[in-house]
Amino acid sequence: MSPGVTGFSGRIVENVFLYIAAIAVFLLILITFLMVYFVIRYRRNRNPKPEDIEGNLWLEITWTIVPTILVMTMFYYGYTGFSTLKKIPEGAMKVRVIARQWSWLFEYENGIKANELKVPAGKPINLLLTSQDVIHSFYMPAFKIKQDAVPGMVNHLWFKPTEVGTYDVLCAEYCGLQHSYMLTKVAVVPEEEFNQWYQKGTEEMAIAKKKPRGSQLFQEKGCRACHSIDGTPLVGPTVKGLFGKTVTVITDGKERQVVADETYLRRSLLEPNADVVKGFPPIMPSQKGLITDEELEEIIRYMKELK
Ligand code: CUA
Repeated sequence: MSPGVTGFSGRIVENVFLYIAAIAVFLLILITFLMVYFVIRYRRNRNPKPEDIEGNLWLEITWTIVPTILVMTMFYYGYTGFSTLKKIPEGAMKVRVIARQWSWLFEYENGIKANELKVPAGKPINLLLTSQDVIHSFYMPAFKIKQDAVPGMVNHLWFKPTEVGTYDVLCAEYCGLQHSYMLTKVAVVPEEEFNQWYQKGTEEMAIAKKKPRGSQLFQEKGCRACHSIDGTPLVGPTVKGLFGKTVTVITDGKERQVVADETYLRRSLLEPNADVVKGFPPIMPSQKGLITDEELEEIIRYMKELK
């Protein structure tokens, strides 16, 4: 395989691609050679009087049948490869993939949630893709697979990693200003390492289930993509030391000063574009309907603690 290509799907797509490319290159050379040869061989000063040529049955049959067979073999390889990539093997590990502006969330069956995908080498993985807002597209170039994540429906995609390593995951559908932020990683780790991590996650989830933690929610809900917790302004203002501070906001086009109290934080999460902090674009997606009251409380409590 070419460098950078990996996995079962990568191999299938790569083989079909190389097969078609090889035929295309062969035909390019053949046609170019014949063209140059005919131009020289049948130039005017060698054949001042053009002659009529009657058809040649054998030649015509040959150049009909040979390309037909070639095209049919391309179709055969393409179609069988496509069917294999569409048929999810039984027992594949399920991971829910939730796309939103502008990050990915990977949810495992034991409840682990992460912004990066981690999978065991050698095992088939079934991704269940959906979106919380607009259409995104889940794209893993090294594995040569891509599938849209559409709000209101679940699309399936499966792959089998073969080599341990870290590969890119991108969004391949322009989904708004920070579309390029939707770059993350898939880490393919040895099965044993994965099982340990998964087991540990199962235990942690059992504890966390009793009490959702604000910092975890802040990460999972995608807040971290635009709001830093260390004071650095990103796409949005930092949340460090925000609670209790006086901020300048634009409300209905007018500038005003507000104290960042609980009411302000709550409003910012549910109606982010009501008061927009001066100097930042009004692009934050509302969390209304995407967040429970309990989660809202936790996030606000977390922000209060970020002194
Ligand atoms: Cu999500 Cu582009």
